[in-house]
Amino acid sequence: MRKSLTIAAGAISVIAAGGYAFMTLKRPASKPPAALKIVPSETRVARGRYIFEILSDCDGCHSMRDYSRFGGPVVAGHRAEGTIFKKEFGLPGDISAPNITPDPETGIGGWSDGEIVRAIREGIGRDGRALFPIMPYSSYRSMSDEDVYSLVAYLRTLPPVKNRLPKTRIDFPVWFFIKSAPQPVAAPVPPPDRAHRLRYGEYLVEIGGCAECHTPAKGGEPEQNMKFGGGREFKLPGLIVVSANISPDPETGIGRWTEQQFLEKFAEYKSYVANGSPKVGPEGFTMMPWLNLSQLPAEDLGAIFTYLKVQPPVRNAVETHPGYPSQR
Ligand code: HEC
Ligand code: HEC
Repeated sequence: MRKSLTIAAGAISVIAAGGYAFMTLKRPASKPPAALKIVPSETRVARGRYIFEILSDCDGCHSMRDYSRFGGPVVAGHRAEGTIFKKEFGLPGDISAPNITPDPETGIGGWSDGEIVRAIREGIGRDGRALFPIMPYSSYRSMSDEDVYSLVAYLRTLPPVKNRLPKTRIDFPVWFFIKSAPQPVAAPVPPPDRAHRLRYGEYLVEIGGCAECHTPAKGGEPEQNMKFGGGREFKLPGLIVVSANISPDPETGIGRWTEQQFLEKFAEYKSYVANGSPKVGPEGFTMMPWLNLSQLPAEDLGAIFTYLKVQPPVRNAVETHPGYPSQR
């Protein structure tokens, strides 16, 4: 009896060790970085700046922001130097959004163009590991080849900042599960068709990460039947904001907004970009990238509106600033 128990226990630990080894050894789906030499040009750098600083809010995670001011403007000299998302914010580990300035030691100055493109669109780190999917690579998969090349050309123009961050440390078993998030981009991705308003809008919404923030999530998974329905909470110490319902529900979303009203809502914040954004208390705290997105051209905002308007309406009344209802 004792003996068979020992054998059973031994067998279980062998199986467990085997399982653990399997989990450690499993590689995410990936392919080698493309052998690319991206030729920089003014057009590419400008386009890259538009994606980084305006549309995709890469600053939101990779740059130091000043949340004592409305919209959290980037702190001068700290663009792309990296930030840390602590476990205390409800994440399964301490996640570093890395330094992506061209500093060769602490940033990505030593990376090849192909390695940067692969990290952005396919979620694979330089060492072949799966990046934590808070980095929106599953959305950036749809980014056109020309757009991601432009981003690389832009990143190479940033002033290098020396800022060493701790390595991302993800809890068990999440580090195993995220290995299935990366997917190689199989075919060339053509640029979006600007003449097709709806499809152009879809592209902008995807790359702009609107769904990530405006869809509630359960256990880290977005609730697909609530897409654009808002209700996602963002917390910083002592601060909270909840994303708005931007689905076309007439009562609780933007169903009654005209395109003109939509454009005006963004235009409200343009002067903050030009003149500096004001100090705000918790009642005005927001993670909505108003400062960035207010700089989108009317053509782009119009296309975004056109796309949002044809999405399924989601009935979901949201208080964006709980405890400060008058601010809405
Ligand atoms: C919501 C937050 C978020 C946004 C928005 C975001 N990133 Fe990231 N990014 C991260 C995190 C977190 C990681 C690292 C994940 C890890 O270590 O597993 C990362 C990793 C990277 C890496 C790999 C760097 C390295 O050292 O491994 C690159 C390159 C990168 N991001 C570029 C971008 C660009 C360009 C944009 C905008 C188009 C962007 N990111 C937007 C959070 C974000
Ligand atoms: C980093 C998270 C984040 C991203 C990315 C984001 N939003 Fe928001 N958004 C919010 C939050 C939080 C609010 C509510 C607080 C506020 O109004 O400032 C909000 C509010 C809004 C509102 C105001 C709605 C109302 O009823 O007043 C609109 C419109 C909007 N977002 C559209 C968009 C669009 C379009 C995109 C993509 C291009 C986008 N958002 C991307 C977080 C985000």
